[in-house]
Amino acid sequence: MLLLLHVLMLSLLSSGSAKVVQDFESECGQFFANGKSPTRFPESQYKQICQTLYDNVYYATFYDTHNKIPVYSAYKFEGIMGCTRIESWYIEPQIDDPNKGQNMDFGRTVNIHMRGINQALNRDYDNSGYDRGHLAPVYLANSQSCADATFSLTNAAPQAKCFNRIFWWDEELSLGTHLKTACSSQPVYIVTGVVPDPNNSNRVNVPSHFWTAYCCLDQNNRCSDSGGVIGTNDNNSNIQKMSVADLEEELRNLYGKTFQLFQ
Ligand SMILES: *[C@@H]1O[C@H](CO)[C@@H](O)[C@H](O)[C@H]1NC(C)=O
Ligand SMILES: *[C@@H]1O[C@H](CO)[C@@H](O)[C@H](O)[C@H]1NC(C)=O
Repeated sequence: MLLLLHVLMLSLLSSGSAKVVQDFESECGQFFANGKSPTRFPESQYKQICQTLYDNVYYATFYDTHNKIPVYSAYKFEGIMGCTRIESWYIEPQIDDPNKGQNMDFGRTVNIHMRGINQALNRDYDNSGYDRGHLAPVYLANSQSCADATFSLTNAAPQAKCFNRIFWWDEELSLGTHLKTACSSQPVYIVTGVVPDPNNSNRVNVPSHFWTAYCCLDQNNRCSDSGGVIGTNDNNSNIQKMSVADLEEELRNLYGKTFQLFQ
């Protein structure tokens, strides 16, 4: 009887913590090159999410509960499926209430007094003048359910409309085209992140930059083809392409701490 209770308790505990996890390298390391995540900051405001929809995990997000935007989302590129956009946004119940379920949902499971304490809600974006800018994008998703799972507000940050719809979109298109030909037979890992603007005091921080880095692994588990891009978050975005090492240097300056993308 005691043993049975113990097993029951364990299964309850593990199902309750499957989505916001202590260590996403061990829980959903499949989204990281060589199973190693980009830099994780140690402060408790940062949460590690294995992004789960209907009990399937689609990508990983390192989330900043103070600024209520991600630091980055990490995902694999496995071809372009031309998915449709659901245009309604999930939240992550366990960010506000660790006792809630592991699947992203439309927020109804979280008590109204707790909902949004640690994360962005739709009302933070409505009439803000900013788009809900995807980090892990719809365009590079390899299945409709994966595309649907990118519609989590924990995978989005306020993005200037022209930057999102013109300049950043162009970057997603050209990255997809490049990867389809250059890395067609190799595993491809992508990380997309944002840099919070320390001078912005909105409830949901309007980041100063969006950035992306990719790595195609060869048989020796090295990045045989890789690159980075960073753009300022304004309507006339200044976008710069660079090597992964130069992007790491740029991010080190912007975040004010060491930042490693791939290992
Ligand atoms: C970008 O342009 C759109 C459309 O003209 C405007 O509504 C929005 O306020 C502008 N955003 C920024 C950050 O300048
Ligand atoms: C924040 O404001 C300070 C002082 O005005 C300025 O020097 C700095 O460049 C600003 N930082 C960003 C990211 O805009």
